[in-house]
Order: sequence, then structure tokens, then C-alpha cells
Amino acid sequence: MENWKIEHEGDGLATLVFDRAGTSTNTLSQDALVELNEALDELDRKPPKALIVRSGKTNGFIAGADVSEFGQLSNPAAAQAFVKRGWDTLMRLSNVSYPTLALIKGFCLGGGLELALACRYRVAIDDPSTRLGLPEVMLGIVPGWGGIMRLPRLTGAPAALDLLLTGKTIDARKAKKLGIVDECVPERIMENTARGMLRALPPPRALPLPLSLTLAPVARKLIAAQAEKKVAQRARRDHYPAPYAILELFRRYDGNPLAPPDGDPASITALMQTPTAANLIRVFGLQERLKTLGKEDDFAASHVHVVGGGTMGGDIAAWCALRGLTVTLQDQTSERLAPAMGRAAKLFAERLKEPRRVRAATDRLIPDVEGYGVARADVIIEAIFENVDAKRAVFATLERKARPDALLATNTSSIPLEEIAAELPDPTRLVGLHFFNPVQRMMLVEIVHGRDTQPALVARGAAFARQIDKLPLPVKSAPGFLVNRLLAPYLMTAMRCVDEGIAAETVDEAALAFGMPMGPIELADTVGLDICLAVGRMLDPDAEPPRKLKALIDAGKLGKKTGQGFYTWVNGKAQKTAAGAPPADLARRLVDPFVAEAKAALADGIVADADLVDAGAIFGTGFAPFRGGPLHYAATPEGGAR
Ligand code: NAI
Repeated sequence: MENWKIEHEGDGLATLVFDRAGTSTNTLSQDALVELNEALDELDRKPPKALIVRSGKTNGFIAGADVSEFGQLSNPAAAQAFVKRGWDTLMRLSNVSYPTLALIKGFCLGGGLELALACRYRVAIDDPSTRLGLPEVMLGIVPGWGGIMRLPRLTGAPAALDLLLTGKTIDARKAKKLGIVDECVPERIMENTARGMLRALPPPRALPLPLSLTLAPVARKLIAAQAEKKVAQRARRDHYPAPYAILELFRRYDGNPLAPPDGDPASITALMQTPTAANLIRVFGLQERLKTLGKEDDFAASHVHVVGGGTMGGDIAAWCALRGLTVTLQDQTSERLAPAMGRAAKLFAERLKEPRRVRAATDRLIPDVEGYGVARADVIIEAIFENVDAKRAVFATLERKARPDALLATNTSSIPLEEIAAELPDPTRLVGLHFFNPVQRMMLVEIVHGRDTQPALVARGAAFARQIDKLPLPVKSAPGFLVNRLLAPYLMTAMRCVDEGIAAETVDEAALAFGMPMGPIELADTVGLDICLAVGRMLDPDAEPPRKLKALIDAGKLGKKTGQGFYTWVNGKAQKTAAGAPPADLARRLVDPFVAEAKAALADGIVADADLVDAGAIFGTGFAPFRGGPLHYAATPEGGAR
């Protein structure tokens, strides 16, 4: 066997080690599944007293099925066979005569978790790298190898559906609390714990009575109906059929994806009838590609200095501290830093929860009005207000004080890098790191290179973006870079529709029905109408701005931040009246300028290729992920291609 190894120990215990050949990460390819059956054959011939299943890789247990093989599943019969192979194999594992235990360290996702669930026991290592989850729904597919059957039996229906329908991952402690793993222990005692369990053979965990009642047929129906309401708020069935299929499989088929007949909405054939799964798998691939762009340089920062502690600088600093870096944050006065420090405290508390970790993050974020941190920093990010003279003055001081190897970056959204760098003794040092608002939610960072920027610094900036868990997208310094350039004509068109008398709610509904996460009018209010106008003017100086936009700004109504824009905002929510059904061609009218701009940006070489345009649109603007990106969409009949 190439991928699995059986090790017999003196006391009758055997270990089955998965170490997929030729890759650094364990994924369950079709070959690996075939071989797992061979391993089980061999174990049948000489049954051990007990079996431990573990990974031979240092980075994790099993990341899931091999997504790169999904491209071959172009017809329902192939998909059915793929699901059946995994289902049957894990069913066989769950039925072996000897006790089995999965020893989990690092990621244990999708088909990997389904394999662990097919073992009698699970021991997880209490380590930040250990993450368990069933992220299939995010790829537009369903956990088809037993997850929908076995997970609810361990956790009860509500917790299982939460994991199945969101695709989120949890750490080892949470997995223990939910009952997914039997033990959560530090690495140094994992071997003893596993062996101890296999000697003692405790009865497999039984669900407490109240939770076991959630699996009764009537309860399943009720709980699934409640969950469906929540799903419907996030994802429309026609756009994202997978979560609905998961609910049906749970409710009516006890999680068996092979049970529904063809034509049933929970069947594999039904899921393959829309391009959603293929497009979401494409989006996953785009995300992986952006991640690899950060691997071209092994740069690792330990200290970041941020100049300008406003909306963006404050949040960038907090984010970097959250990700483990030491951060000094500079503004003109300490009063100006106070709001940023307050927001940071809230972010740390929300994300880190444990007081000890919250305190450590708070300690890492240091207010620094004098700018002492500049001389020590590995990365310096300027995020003062958008004014070229002010930015030049800041960089003149920074370059004098900074280490010669520090990465010098600006967060400007509209000033050409060449202009900011013009008076630097070495203008090749400046790179753009363009974050998006809100920083804690937006994954993308545009890595901007000007005419003079040293090409190596782009790789360095991308490595830094990965270090703080963002997705880097290298872009050429040109007005609007990629993301704002794509958004501006779309937002302006939406506002012109309002000028024509179409209700803002109707315009937004047309975009939502197309699959955008937020309507363009609500988005404009959220970004700030003054910023929208400035970006629109920068990109198209000759165009007359939309009338209502102008009028609102003249009246000081700038959107969410002032409580009034196209909408009235109460407690951070736009107050909308019921939208009329949008005219049939409205969505196309809004999206066409987006697509046209995507083609133009590609032609202008703003990013290297069409896939990167689509990646920027999806991760930077939220462009309907299930459509695979604006250029991908434009190449389909629905998008106008012939
Ligand atoms: P802001 O006005 O909220 O914050 C700017 C901060 O810089 C203020 O706290 C100000 O006191 C401080 N500051 C000004 N001059 C300074 C100096 N010489 N030294 C130290 N601090 C100084 O501005 P915001 O919105 O955070 O924008 C900052 C930059 O980020 C701009 O270049 C903007 O184009 C860019 N950007 C803004 C986005 C947004 O949505 N607001 C999105 C992406 C980029």
C-alpha cells in the first residue's frame, strides 16, 4: 500500500497510519479509499485487539476528500459512485469487529471527520491547530460519507445541524463539550489516553435523554423546519440548494445520500442540476490560489507599526494584534487613539473569549503617539487621511527612522503610489496594502505595486497578508485598483436607477435576487456616500454624479455613519419598506456595468489573469459566489454568452 501503513504492536494493538503519498496534506482521494479497503481486508485476516487510526503528517489528520478530483464528477452516475465508495468504506470501518479509535491532531475536516466519526472512539489533541468540521455546505455539496447520520447521534440534532449547515469548524475543547470527541488532551498524554481507552473499552458515549429525543422523527421534522427558516435568511434555495438538501437528508433519510430517489431535491442528481457546486468548488480553488501567492516569500513579521488610528488604521492594528503580532499604533494625540483601542478591546473579547488570551492581545497593541515603534517594526502601514501631501510628509519621516529592511506600505485607496513615493530617497520601497472596510470581515487585501515598486516586495506584502490570515491579491497601481474600480460603475448605475424613480428597496432586491450579499444602495450607504462620490469622480471625472447622491451629501446625509442616507439607519440597520418585485431586466442592468468593468480591468492588466479578476470580485465585493465570478458568469448563456 502506498498511502496506508499498518503497524502491529506486541500487545495486539494495531495502528493504521494515513500518510498520503506525494502530498504534504492528507486528503481522501479515490485511490486512498480503495486502499483503505485493502487495509481493512488485511486487518480482517488478522484482527487486532484494537485499532488506532492516525495521520502520518505533521500538519493535520485529514483535510477531507480530494477536491481536485471533483472536476471528474461531471455526471450524476460518477458522483453517485464517488459518494457510494466513501459511504460503503466508512460503513465497513464502523462495523469492524474490533474497537477503533481516531487520534486527531490538526485539521479533521469533511470526509476526514466522517472517517473519525466511523470509529468507535475519538481522542483530540488540545492544540490551536486542531479544528473539526464538515465544511461541505460551503462547496455546495453535502457530507455524503455518513456525517449527516453519525454527527447528530453524538451531539443531538441542534448542534449537529449548526455544524452541518454553516460548515464552521470548532476546536478540540468545543468538540469534547459537544460530545464529538471522547477526550481532549494535551499532546504529551495523547498516546497514553488512546491506549488507556482501548484497554478500558468504556461504552461508547450515549446521548443524554433530552438530546436523544431530538432525533425522534417528529422532533427531526420540527427542528429541521426551524433550521430551514434560519437558512432561508442567509441563502436562497435556488442559489444554494445544498443546505436544504442536508436538512432533507437529516429529516427523511437519516443522513443517507444514496437513499433519495432521482428527482428528490435531496438527491445527488438534483444537487448537480445547478452549477452552484461546480462554481463554489471553483471559488474554493480561487481562494487556494490566492493563498499560494503568499508562499513565494518566507517573510514573517513580528512587529507592525501603523500610522493613523482612524477607521482603517485602528482596525488594521487591532487585527494584526489579534493574529499574534506586536503592534504599535500612532496618531496625532492619544485622544484620537481612544476609539480605536475601544474597538480593539471589543474585537479581542468577541474573538478570543478567554480572559488570558484577551489580555495577551491587549498587551500586544501599544498606543504610540511618539512613533517609537517605527525604528523596530518589520512592517509599517500608513493609514492617515487621504491627502497626498500629508502622506508624503509621513513617509519622509518614516523612511528616515525605519529599518532599511522594513516593509513600507500605504493603505491609500485612490492616490497613485508613484505620487506618494515621489519624494522618497528610495521610491522603490513603497508598496500598497489596501485593506477593506470592515477589516475584521473582509478577507481580501490588494497588494498594490506602483511603477517603481520592487517586484520582490509584492511577494513580501502577500506573505504578510497570509500571516494575518487575509487573502492577498497583487494589483497594479491604477485608479480604483481592482475592487473599487469594479464596484463604482455598479453602485453609480444603481443610484441612477433611484434617480429614475425606482425605489431603493426594489433596486436592492434585484441585486439580492441575483445573488449579491447586500444590495448596492445599502452598500453605498454602508461605505459612506461621500466616499462613493469621491471614488466615482476619481474613476470617471466627466460623468455627472447621480442627482440623489449629490443632494444627500449636500444635506450632510452620508449614509450609515450619519444615520441617514438613501435609507434611515437605526441601530446599524437600514430601515426598508417591502420591495416591489423588480422589473425582469433590472438585475442585468446593474450587473452588466460590473462585468464590463471586469473585462476592461483585465484588458488593462490590473491583475494577471481572468481568474484573479473573479477572485477579487468575490472576496473584495462579495459578487455572488455561486456564479463563480463576473467573468465566469459572463461566459455562461445566462450571463449573455452565446
Ligand atoms: P480616518 O479619517 O478615519 O483616519 C485617519 C486618522 O489618521 C485620523 O485618526 C487622524 O488623526 C490620523 N492622522 C492624520 N494625520 C496623521 C499624521 N500625520 N500622523 C498620525 N496620524 C495622523 O480615515 P480612514 O477612513 O481610516 O482612512 C485612512 C486611509 O485608508 C485613507 O488613505 C483611505 O483612503 C484608506 N481607506 C479607507 C477605507 C474606508 O472605507 N474608510 C477603505 C480602504 C482604505
